[in-house]
Amino acid sequence: MAEPFDVVVIGAGPGGYVAAIRAAQLGMRTACIDDWKTADGKPAPGGTCTNVGCIPSKALLQSSENYEHVAHAFTEHGIEVRGLALNLKQMLARKAKVVRQNNDGIVYLFKKNKVAFYNGTGSFAGSEAAGWQVRVSGAKAETLVAKHVIIATGSKPRALPGAAFDNDRILDNDGALAIPEVPKSLGVIGAGVIGLEMGSVWRRLGAEVTVLEALPTFLGAADEQIAKEAWKLFGKQGLAIELGAKIGKVVAGKRVTVEYADAEGKARSAAFDKLIVSIGRLPHTAGLDAEAVGLELDERGLVAVDADCRTNLANVWAVGDVVRGPMLAHKAEEEGIAVAERIAGQHGHVDFNTVPWVIYTSPEIAWVGQTEQQLKAAGTAYRAGSFPFAANGRARALGDTSGFAKILADAKSDRILGMHVIGPLASELIAEGVVAMEFGAASEDLARICHAHPSLSEATREAALAVDKRSLNY
Ligand code: FAD
Ligand code: NAI
Repeated sequence: MAEPFDVVVIGAGPGGYVAAIRAAQLGMRTACIDDWKTADGKPAPGGTCTNVGCIPSKALLQSSENYEHVAHAFTEHGIEVRGLALNLKQMLARKAKVVRQNNDGIVYLFKKNKVAFYNGTGSFAGSEAAGWQVRVSGAKAETLVAKHVIIATGSKPRALPGAAFDNDRILDNDGALAIPEVPKSLGVIGAGVIGLEMGSVWRRLGAEVTVLEALPTFLGAADEQIAKEAWKLFGKQGLAIELGAKIGKVVAGKRVTVEYADAEGKARSAAFDKLIVSIGRLPHTAGLDAEAVGLELDERGLVAVDADCRTNLANVWAVGDVVRGPMLAHKAEEEGIAVAERIAGQHGHVDFNTVPWVIYTSPEIAWVGQTEQQLKAAGTAYRAGSFPFAANGRARALGDTSGFAKILADAKSDRILGMHVIGPLASELIAEGVVAMEFGAASEDLARICHAHPSLSEATREAALAVDKRSLNY
């Protein structure tokens, strides 16, 4: 009989593949099972993130932004372009290539770290003295034995009731990333992260985009001031967002008709060439045969875990989108690393207070820590400082001066409690806030650190100076 694995990871998304690599680095005999395949049957590790999430969406966001820049922003730089044309087929092919590079990168990393990779579905088949039996149903069926199992099976898109995804007219994230022709009119249900990112992609490429959002407030999780600025800027760009929309019947024929009640309760109807439904995601546990071994799920169908990602079953752990917490790739990775370290007897740790959020629209939106409204609700006394990119030399040189950086600090200790950015490369700038918060920095610490000139990061330093009302350039 084959020697048992120390760790078998089910799922090779960012939670699973990183957990497997870390476990192998720590000297454990590790396997990772993942069922994702390309259309032509090749293994495609990387999960939702690599195949139909983070990576392809950022590839299309970049391509569509380039297109929009050439069309609208280049003349200001003195660059005249005639005969501009969109080659969507090439744009989608480039996206597929970027995805493939990431899939291949993970296969390479598995080899390099000696992680045994199985392309197939992993399910619990029982247990024996040496550990859990995990069945792999792939090209070749086999059963692995594992001392520890890490479930990292991710999430899947949530459909509207009565409007199943067909990825022809009614699109999930996969369909939204692969529309073969720019639709004249595109409807999006849900003004969350996917709705805003994918709505931006197709608007830049020429679609008329309408976003219908159920909640009466826009981007409720973001700092209110940031959400207000984003609302203004997205409106200017031509992204039509209706709040407080109560979706009724959705009928897909030649076009998709959406019946809904608007914020005043008036009955409305809208017809679109394509409809993206992005109303959140559901945990993916189908195929695990979890019931057979008594794995506990919570009332939302997430695998129930404690603060350390332990399930109710001995030596069975779960990480990423399939457990509580934000559905973010880097959160999944942090949990995967921490679990591998705990299995190895170390003290893996995830600090949920410093998990950054990024929305890759233009301008980008990013934050870490608490919002002003959260601090007010908690009765925390704080000081706020902000700085507009319009006053930043690098942003002016870039020709991208929208938005601002904002820092919230404890009124007494000056410790940074939150950083919020809407503006160019906010996704990169936010890392400074994460590091500062992890080190328990005060706003004065950031204000006293030398930042390169001219750089966008000077805006965060100026925001830190503004906490003490001593901005130098505004
Ligand atoms: P997943 O990535 O979903 O991976 C799970 C893997 O397990 C999949 O390959 C699945 O097929 C496989 N699997 C499931 N069951 C089994 C089984 N029984 N046997 C074998 N394999 C199985 N997050 C960010 O942080 N930044 C972003 O920019 C970002 N952009 C996104 C854009 C879109 C359009 C979407 C949809 C999501 C985006 N996300 C982003 C979220 C991110 O993709 C997820 O948070 C992340 O993929 C979760 O990782 P995971 O490892 O938990 O699960
Ligand atoms: P989301 O939770 O971000 O947004 C869903 C939106 O749909 C919410 O605003 C919600 O109020 C609205 N909604 C829910 N039901 C509705 C209904 N019946 N009618 C109209 N509106 C409705 O979820 P989304 O956009 O589907 O993305 C899923 C997850 O994927 C995100 O929560 C995020 O964790 C992850 N993601 C992360 C990205 C990033 O980090 N940049 C990019 C894309 C996705």
